Amino acid sequence: MVTRRIAEILRDGQPEESLTIQGWVRTKRELKGFAFMEVNDGSSMGNLQVVLNSEVPGYEDILKQINTGASVEASGVLVASQGKGQRIELQASAVKVYGASDPETYPLQKKRHSFEFLRTIGHLRPRTNTLGAVFRVRNACSYAIHQFFQERGFLWIHTPVITASDCEGAGEMFAVTSFNLKDVPRLDTQDIDYAQDFFGRPAYLTVSGQLEAEVMAMAFSNVYTFGPTFRAENSNTSRHLAEFWMVEPEMAFCDLKGNMDLAEEFLKYVFKTVLERCPEDMEFFNQRINDTVLATAENIINSEFERITYTDAIALLEKANKKFEFPCNWGVDLQSEHERYLAEELFKKPVIVTDYPVGIKAFYMRLSDDEKTVRAMDVLAPNIGEIIGGSQREERLDVLERRIKTQGLNPEDYWWYLDLRRYGTVEHAGFGLGFERLVQFMTGMTNIRDVIPFPRTPLSAEF
Ligand code: 4AD
Ligand code: MG
Repeated sequence: MVTRRIAEILRDGQPEESLTIQGWVRTKRELKGFAFMEVNDGSSMGNLQVVLNSEVPGYEDILKQINTGASVEASGVLVASQGKGQRIELQASAVKVYGASDPETYPLQKKRHSFEFLRTIGHLRPRTNTLGAVFRVRNACSYAIHQFFQERGFLWIHTPVITASDCEGAGEMFAVTSFNLKDVPRLDTQDIDYAQDFFGRPAYLTVSGQLEAEVMAMAFSNVYTFGPTFRAENSNTSRHLAEFWMVEPEMAFCDLKGNMDLAEEFLKYVFKTVLERCPEDMEFFNQRINDTVLATAENIINSEFERITYTDAIALLEKANKKFEFPCNWGVDLQSEHERYLAEELFKKPVIVTDYPVGIKAFYMRLSDDEKTVRAMDVLAPNIGEIIGGSQREERLDVLERRIKTQGLNPEDYWWYLDLRRYGTVEHAGFGLGFERLVQFMTGMTNIRDVIPFPRTPLSAEF
């Protein structure tokens, strides 16, 4: 007998002589002499209804065991369903219970649970409708991202998770050490003797793969990295994680305009592909989570993103007939409320803000001739705010050295990065997309902790 995935069976909707399915029981209903169970195998939102009658060998025993959460295998005939709610159902001739599930203690009941509660059972929440849909959409997004870059000849490179350099220069890094923390070797000065540590120097979890991506772009022209990144910023918000995934393309022979064009084309492509691949899950988000999800997706695909400079954005914010919690004037960083006002209320679509003040952006961004702004770009999305951060990079050795110093960093730590400007430098640009923010944006989920299987946030690393 062939074993098939439930998504496929429901999609085909055709009767079949004999087949087997495997999955977890969502619900059981007992009637006189027969019973129904809804089985889900994670391949789709939909469950397959399985009908068992008393002729199934071991019927009475099986009935006691097929409670919500139990793992089962059912074989039989796929027939057109007489009941409402499904086209097709499996009439079981045999059912095997792999693992029972105690209905007294199984935490997932048929009622709706709050997302806060589900976070306390991170090991079981993937079995719920919403988290199931989230992780299927997350998968489709990853796939679409690779497809987008592969179709365009970008090389997928793997940048290190452990690094000695602070890409953003913001000092928000987690240390990596093999020292016994109860007995850390110290110098006479009482400073930590890193020479004795595993790498012979301080090392950290990376905040971004960009610096290494630039190395690779200087050999392969167009590259991207897609991996986990880490930030020890103590931000307990619905948009921040301590461990999140980032997609970072880097392009040689490319300026800010090319970078913006790629970011826009990229987002449109990913939305379009996911809508095509996960129509049922996206429909679910629109119905149950946020009724603007599908309209937003259409809007991303079909509208031209707004492009404005930071200076113009500040002028618009100052003119706005709205009271912000944080005041804004030229020179300050945009807060999430400002970003959302621009994208959500004013333009009602993604907005790319460029040319930020030099004082609030990282050292590697290209300095403009006026020396007041850098060639930075942030893509701001409705409901989320900043989803992409990127820039044209500083390709001039002398300017880069100066910028590293004025930011209080040590040029010696960046010797290899500076070498890229000594040997065959070229204008280049790239950006970083916060992958979880993208999934949040796409699904309408309000908390970023609910779009990653195992969220890491301040004081929380369970599961
Ligand atoms: O703007 P960021 O800090 O840019 C960089 O790291 C650049 N080196 C990227 C590049 O140019 N290659 O981060 C990029 C994106 C943000 O726009 C945001 O979407 C996401 O990463 N992000 C976070 N997502 C979740 N939790 C956090 N703590 C995040 N911090 C940034
Ligand atoms: Mg940023």
